[in-house]
Amino acid sequence: MDTQKFIEHWKRTHYCGELRASHIGQQVVLFGWVGNRRDHGGCVFVDLRDREGIAQVVFDPSLAPGPEIPSSPDEIKASYALAEQMRSEWVIAIRGVVVSRGANANPKLPTGEVEIRVVQTEVFNRADTPPFEIVDDLDTREEVRLQYRYLDLRRAPMQKTLRLRHKINQVARNYLTGIGCYELETPFMVKYTPGGARNFLVPSRHNAGKFYALAESPQLFKQLFMVAGFDRYFQIVKCFRDEDFRLDRQPEFTQVDIEMSFVNQDDLFTAVEGLLVRVFRESLGIDLEQSYPGGRFPRMKYDESMRLYGNDKPDLRFGMQHVDLTDLVIEHKGGGVPFLADIAKRYEDGTLRRDLPPEIVKGMIIPADAGMSRTEADKLEVVAKSMGAKGLARAKVAADGAWTQSPLAKTVTPEMRLAINKALGAKDGDLILFQFGKAAMVHTVLANLRVLIAKKLGLIPEYGHGGKFQFLWVVEPPMFDYDEETKRWAAAHHAFTRPHDDSVPFIESDPGKVLCYRYDLVLNGFEIGGGSIRLHDPEVQKKVFRTLGIEQEEARQKFGFLLDALRFGAPPHGGIAIGWDRVAMLLSGAESLRDVIPFPKTQKGTDQMTEAPNEVSAEQLADLHIQTVVAKE
Ligand code: AMO
Repeated sequence: MDTQKFIEHWKRTHYCGELRASHIGQQVVLFGWVGNRRDHGGCVFVDLRDREGIAQVVFDPSLAPGPEIPSSPDEIKASYALAEQMRSEWVIAIRGVVVSRGANANPKLPTGEVEIRVVQTEVFNRADTPPFEIVDDLDTREEVRLQYRYLDLRRAPMQKTLRLRHKINQVARNYLTGIGCYELETPFMVKYTPGGARNFLVPSRHNAGKFYALAESPQLFKQLFMVAGFDRYFQIVKCFRDEDFRLDRQPEFTQVDIEMSFVNQDDLFTAVEGLLVRVFRESLGIDLEQSYPGGRFPRMKYDESMRLYGNDKPDLRFGMQHVDLTDLVIEHKGGGVPFLADIAKRYEDGTLRRDLPPEIVKGMIIPADAGMSRTEADKLEVVAKSMGAKGLARAKVAADGAWTQSPLAKTVTPEMRLAINKALGAKDGDLILFQFGKAAMVHTVLANLRVLIAKKLGLIPEYGHGGKFQFLWVVEPPMFDYDEETKRWAAAHHAFTRPHDDSVPFIESDPGKVLCYRYDLVLNGFEIGGGSIRLHDPEVQKKVFRTLGIEQEEARQKFGFLLDALRFGAPPHGGIAIGWDRVAMLLSGAESLRDVIPFPKTQKGTDQMTEAPNEVSAEQLADLHIQTVVAKE
């Protein structure tokens, strides 16, 4: 009789999920968790689960040991006795022989053709009843799933997602190493510099009253690697940003961060496209080169993206473009519509200027065949208002081009109505949505409505890719944004982005005109990456600072070490960071970043399981030279 223990003597021969008909007749040793357990006519059936899947194991006390399976009737009976007590999530080992399930095969299970007749068993650990079942489809509240994340992660969909993350990390490492990048590390505890994202601060015990910031990205350090001559760098790196929450944001998230010397924008695009082609091929088996000849992704200028879609991350899986009607409205002096007449008048008397972010008028069509009811359209107005709109003017187009169901219909001149119909390509039964006012608001409202309506109409799924992956580079954004409140120009991204050469003469004279080598990579309406070619010329840098109203002294205080480095022989360089959690979310069709991050934070920034952040003692705070003041509610 063989009573030797598992792990010490019997080593795993296979993962549960690996077993197939080709293994029939073999003796196997499996380790795993007890899933579903059924007691049938003197036999116990257990779905034994490990990271590769589940296999059906059968405890049959009447099984006779054969020559190929060294065991004894006692051992077999002992196994059965254990199986009778087994409960979900016990951790066990079994030794047995693989047999065919014959007519009882389960075609839904990859291992469904076989089962394992058990001859020896060991229980490693019993388990309390888990707070939820370890099954694929779970309707347990997310809070509970996060509180017991290790159990949630035990479920097959989560195992699959984390395997995908492992896979894409390996692909990134191999690919980027293959194109000559070194994987180098950068500090997390860095100097706080204003601008950019809000930082988390870490108090310094050795330097009373001083703080480190947790790095929002390795940006400045990766540039220093270029100055140091490493030529090409990458890092799969955690970044920290104390931002407000959204489904596609986490306070700590992962980037695949890249920087290269002696490259232009196109070289960087080629590198990133190559990476994503490999990631898609090796993780999903999708050949992007079928839809993107040569593996090149399309590009769109920032201005065009704003004009047609109202933002710089358009989802191109569907149409529903916006049409800018501002010029048309000015031409028709508002066409009899009071609010529009007001905008047209202010353009005419020069109160509004086309070159500074002005007020605009835009329209968008919901096609007749979408069959959107009047009540549904009314609901859209409520949504628009929740996004800051004053309202959502609408008009239903009749066969003769007349407008109905619209307060605008009463006063609009036939000329402007027809001109608007024409500009929008509106046909019988179409519904026109209008938005006018401050450009930023108009863009936000119509951009969000576009996606919301596309989901309602089933043009795209509520979440997930729906089998379509639409990539887009958004290029040539403006270098500076005008801040109406402070009446100053601000860097649209950061002050170290290289302007286009032919824009350099306008940096100080007409900043609004300056375009730069900043780019974002968009996938299905999500910004999955962003970067720029950097400004390595100190003379141009000075002009940029002057436009931003940053004095040399202030620049030195904020970015001294980078400015120094740029003076000591900086090569032309540029880079990008890819939001790796977002890529994982889009690849796996998940609803939120929380579904693809093993231990994510909740919407309040807390960790449901460990209960971070938590209070610390007065002594600890005193050590850090910190006093807390609890604000009265
Ligand atoms: P940027 O700030 O555009 O660029 O960030 C790059 C990408 O990171 C992802 N991302 C996030 N993902 C999850 N949660 C967040 N809070 C979050 N914030 C950003 C996005 C984004 O496109 N240093 C520059 C890169 C460069 O210029 O090379 C940077 O960090 O997908």
